Amino acid sequence: MTLAKLGEFTADQFARAYGRAPQWIAAAPGRVNVIGEHTDYNDGFVLPMAIELYTIIAAAPSAGGAAQARFRSTGNHGEPATVDLAKPLKPFPKGAWANYPAGVLAGFVARGISPGGFDALIHSTVPSGGGLSSSAALEVATATLLETMTGKTLDPVEKALLCQQAEHQYAGVPCGIMDQFISVMGRKDHLLLLDCRSRQPQLIPMSDPSVSLLVTNTNVKHELGSGQYAKRRAQCEAAAKILGVASLRDATAAALQKAKSRMDDVVFRRARHVITEIERTPLAARRLEASDWSAAGQLMYDSHASLRDDYEVSCAELDAVVEIAKGIGERGGVYGCRMTGGGFGGCAVALVKTGAVAAVSKKIGADYKRKTGIEATMFVTRPASGASVLKPKPESSGR
Ligand code: GLA
Repeated sequence: MTLAKLGEFTADQFARAYGRAPQWIAAAPGRVNVIGEHTDYNDGFVLPMAIELYTIIAAAPSAGGAAQARFRSTGNHGEPATVDLAKPLKPFPKGAWANYPAGVLAGFVARGISPGGFDALIHSTVPSGGGLSSSAALEVATATLLETMTGKTLDPVEKALLCQQAEHQYAGVPCGIMDQFISVMGRKDHLLLLDCRSRQPQLIPMSDPSVSLLVTNTNVKHELGSGQYAKRRAQCEAAAKILGVASLRDATAAALQKAKSRMDDVVFRRARHVITEIERTPLAARRLEASDWSAAGQLMYDSHASLRDDYEVSCAELDAVVEIAKGIGERGGVYGCRMTGGGFGGCAVALVKTGAVAAVSKKIGADYKRKTGIEATMFVTRPASGASVLKPKPESSGR
């Protein structure tokens, strides 16, 4: 479904839920990260792109002027949730889906930007728990909606950081900045090379029709994920402390090697992943820019091996997809493949010759099913644009 159609669908769902038409509709995309994993909270580089899967949020002022924000969702997100705008805002119990929009709303209110009461309806095509940043898409869609409702547009960096704070403070996940940045700043036909220290984004064109990014969702979701994420962050901080640097961005492979005897083996391997991945990411961007698909693909395989062996955030199912892709090889149309996102399940991303996409998908799907008994979901996506307002149409809104 196109974004415009998704907007219409969400407007219909809004009308069914609340009995009137929405006044505002905003959308934000999910993402795949091509390379640069678990580097964002180490001040390193990431290379994500926005994808053509979106979270849409439609809203209208509360009937009767009630000072509350009501959120409903078409998905299996659970119960509708209400935020009382007359009281100090606070998180819902841990695990509640509405913590994402409520956390963003709280960020606006904390900046003195308060919408009046409103009813909202959320619809998403970003699978949740698939490692495609469904949470960032929900946060950024909410922030974009609040911007258009209040007429106060935030600086894009501040907007992404506000959404990240919502995730930290309301959802309780100590994530980095990658997902919210790409959902705000994604550009059609471009990857975004983001320096997470300076927060400087650099657009990398990715529009050659002869290559495609094929995403394979393993359809597994390991619940240990979020606790393990916090643990990895702590291990990186421990390594940086031993190395005497502010973050692993400042560490070198040589310095790490020298400090090996002063470090626990696990902390050493975590740091080795981060240091090598920070090196690989801008290199991969340069190789992609030069249409050197083989070299970029090799860096993707190297990234996967490092995430699997040193960072230990892969899982048997992700490894299976990467092994199958490697088996197909360049002759069969695959340049490279790796897990993408936080790990412990979710998706793998492969750089594939466009002419071979159908055959490659078929082979990965069949072999994956044979190895794991699980049906994978696969799709090809072009790099998409970041968050947008669908209603009122920007050109007619007068802003
Ligand atoms: C999750 C986090 C990101 C990033 C990735 C790993 O998606 O939200 O900030 O750390 O994991 O690269």
